[in-house]
Amino acid sequence: MQDWVALGYLLGGVLFVCGLMGLSQPRRAVAGNGLGALGMLLCVVVTLLDRGMVHWWGVLGGLLVGSAAGAILAQRVAMTAMPQMVGLFNGLGGTASALVAWAELHQAMAPTPLAFRLAGGLSVLIGAVTLSGSLVAAAKLHGLVGERPWHLPQEQLLKALTLVAALALVGAFPFLADPAMLVPPLMVMALLLGVQITVAIGGADMPVVIALMNAYSGLAGAAAGFMLANSALVIAGALVGTSGLILTQIMCRAMNRSMGNVLLGGFGEPQAQADADAVYGGRVKATSAAEIALLLDGAQQVMVVPGYGLAVAQAQYALRDLVHFLEGRGVQVSFAIHPVAGRMPGHMNVLLAEVDIPYEQLLELGQANAQLSLVDVAIVIGANDVVNPSANDPSSPIAGMAIVEVSQAQLVVVIKRSLSPGFAGIPNPLFAMDNTLMFFADAKEGLGAILAALKTG
Ligand code: TAP
Repeated sequence: MQDWVALGYLLGGVLFVCGLMGLSQPRRAVAGNGLGALGMLLCVVVTLLDRGMVHWWGVLGGLLVGSAAGAILAQRVAMTAMPQMVGLFNGLGGTASALVAWAELHQAMAPTPLAFRLAGGLSVLIGAVTLSGSLVAAAKLHGLVGERPWHLPQEQLLKALTLVAALALVGAFPFLADPAMLVPPLMVMALLLGVQITVAIGGADMPVVIALMNAYSGLAGAAAGFMLANSALVIAGALVGTSGLILTQIMCRAMNRSMGNVLLGGFGEPQAQADADAVYGGRVKATSAAEIALLLDGAQQVMVVPGYGLAVAQAQYALRDLVHFLEGRGVQVSFAIHPVAGRMPGHMNVLLAEVDIPYEQLLELGQANAQLSLVDVAIVIGANDVVNPSANDPSSPIAGMAIVEVSQAQLVVVIKRSLSPGFAGIPNPLFAMDNTLMFFADAKEGLGAILAALKTG
């Protein structure tokens, strides 16, 4: 490799790392994203100058079409649809790596080193698993297929057999004169495996699956980079692979579940109505916008706990208006951010940043719980599992998950449309507690009604 190429790749790698460091802080996230994109542009340009593999007009055309498609998608996609868009990007990344590996195996002059062939097989295997797994995950999240887990008879055995068959094909790559001939059957096995892994998982666990697919797409890329002896691709793939795995771990830890529990099928089946009746049993107290306005009138400290329903209702603007009104009256408002509230990492942070809620008002779980006993009114908006005290019951499916302990506040107001369960499918004893009032409404309409009542009251 020529010196200037190596230097360009090294600089690209440094930009990726700086970009990732920026992304770990909300304030520097936009700059971090820009640095990562700059690093990618640098690596692409260096690769094209080095190899001269495509005609410049082709490169320009590709850049224009790709950038236009990316810009339109990024503008149009709803915030709640972001996980499936990331899922599709992962699928495309995995496909690209698998196709590059196939092409390299096809055109390589024999004899090729053992490591080259194995890397090729692994890139095809992981890339194709990423493609089909990501497509199923995106389809489930987008509601194109049912969210519920689909269980096939003997599914674990079938999965194990498919995996063994795929690994056996990869294992045969070093012993064949033309390993590229095994790529089509390997792709079929890998595509099947990706589907088998993801169909058995409930829709709400899909963010974890998408983070895992993100890691797979990175590993497939790193393997393809190894075949091409392209250090930029190896660095980028390794960074994507490890950051995807770390994110997967963070999500599992926040839910107090193992990766195995998520992947082998955990949540997704709602519990029987009898369980709900036993928990609520006539103890739920409904309230109205006018009553909440009265209660907020006398409050000095208010803590908002946002959840998935806030995103579904796109109620962040209505929330901002209410918060500004309360602050104008001298009320101190803070926000408790649970790490897995919503359906993607940082979901609530993104929604609140969209309406310019200052970062200083956002409290992490521990900070929020430490302050809750001083709070006059905790307003839970479209959150359910992340405030469910059943997590303290060892026999509960969410046992051990850290929650926002809203019952510590003087009064709790929950805004949601019904007593339906959240993602975990279990009833929530919070709704029947003495200091809890339920406001049955869509989050956006409910918040608007409370603000109107405050203004007229
Ligand atoms: P959930 O427990 O899923 O509860 C959301 C609640 O929002 C529902 O009970 C629903 O009740 C309500 N809702 C839906 N649409 C609404 C609307 N238009 N207006 C008002 N409310 C509405 O949400 P959560 O508390 O945010 O917890 C997240 C769950 O997802 C956790 O179990 C977590 O483990 C899981 N999860 C999250 C992630 C990440 S990274 N965030 C990853 C994997 C899994 P109604 O139907 O009665 O309105």
